Amino acid sequence: MTRDLTQTHALFQKAKQFIPQGVNSNFRYWGDEETLVIMRGEGAYIWDMDENRYIDYRLAFGPVILGHAYPRVVKRVANAIQDSTLFAWTTPAEIQVAERIVRMTGVDKVRLGNTGTEVTMHALRIARGYTNRERFIKFEGQYHGMHDYVLFSTAGAPVGMLGSRRSPINVQSSSGIPEGIRQYVINLPFNDFEMLEETLAARWHEIAAIFVEPMLGNAAGILPQPGWLEKLRELCTKYGIVLIFDEVKTGFRIANGGAQEYFGIQADLVTYAKAMGNGFPIAAIGGTEEVMSVVGYGSVAHGGTYSGNVVGAAAADATLEILENEPIIETIFKNGQKLMDGVSEILTRHGIVHYITGLPPMFSLILGVEEEPTDFRAYCAGDGDLYEELAMALIERGVMPDGDGREPWFLCYQHNEQVIAETLTAFEDAVKDVKRQA
Ligand SMILES: Cc1ncc(COP(=O)(O)O)c(C=O)c1O
Repeated sequence: MTRDLTQTHALFQKAKQFIPQGVNSNFRYWGDEETLVIMRGEGAYIWDMDENRYIDYRLAFGPVILGHAYPRVVKRVANAIQDSTLFAWTTPAEIQVAERIVRMTGVDKVRLGNTGTEVTMHALRIARGYTNRERFIKFEGQYHGMHDYVLFSTAGAPVGMLGSRRSPINVQSSSGIPEGIRQYVINLPFNDFEMLEETLAARWHEIAAIFVEPMLGNAAGILPQPGWLEKLRELCTKYGIVLIFDEVKTGFRIANGGAQEYFGIQADLVTYAKAMGNGFPIAAIGGTEEVMSVVGYGSVAHGGTYSGNVVGAAAADATLEILENEPIIETIFKNGQKLMDGVSEILTRHGIVHYITGLPPMFSLILGVEEEPTDFRAYCAGDGDLYEELAMALIERGVMPDGDGREPWFLCYQHNEQVIAETLTAFEDAVKDVKRQA
């Protein structure tokens, strides 16, 4: 069984003439034969240029929480832009979005932006401005966007280069980052209480922030161990360090109040993007009154021509209103759990050792391991090649997870029971296929 990709391949060839590697984000390039050009999406489905239909579990790397082209969001944006898209002034929709975020997440103050990268960059500056310290801690396998400071030991780092877990090496994720930047970041293994306590005891006075994805949204959704986030909170309070939850993936996805609500921990700063706009470009930094009070003229710079633009603000207003008033996340949890259980049952029946990490709205399958991985190093012990084969067999059958097991399966409101049943039928066939080829 092979799909017809004639039109898709032809258009991708053209894309390569004008765009490096034919994509506008390196993560979208899967190889000349595998990279798709997508024509449209609706609900849980997307279609390529050859009209091949896929059940989409990538959801644009997570943002599409309600479903593609969700009519009420699209309509709100379409109506809003009749009155123009951008002003050098505040608009009512921005105020409404900020009010909703405060109500839903428990932060005191909010500034809007456009992308996850933008808000993590600003959050780091705010933390530095607040503490007058320069270094920060992040955790191996975490990704916080494309600015220089955070591109070390991300989920793309080869595990063999991370060094001893007692003295981790910052593995740079890109050329073009000035050498001096490396000194500002300290990467530690996630969930490693001892390393965290030792590092802070020795270096707390240098450290402005602990930047954490509360669950490893870029490394298979690995969960915090009991007490881990509490420990981060306790130590940040003790040492005057700003605790930043990067909720670009978890925000408005694992609970209306994101990871703060789900895990019951309040951070000092929180970054949001993705699900808050159902795929429209909108992002936010939320935080406590005290930390956010450093933002302003003559203090910490934050700004942007497009911050709070009408398109993003209208989309976020509509998306957050729907999340607040309807059982969206509960439904995603229910259907996601069915999918996780079904997938696990099929793998077990076929004798494939596996562990499922994460939560129903964003989970991952790690093949070849039985025990729960608690950090990025442990994730790497799984069989990534087998996972990729399985993912490719699924895509061939119209089910689209990411080919890279580090990227979770994302669910939206429209992955309903029928879509899950369809997925599980394809999953069974894909597993048989992979076993035949083994
Ligand atoms: C946790 C996290 N932070 C930040 C970012 C960067 O967001 P963006 O791609 O919108 O710049 C991402 C993107 O995947 C992310 O997963």
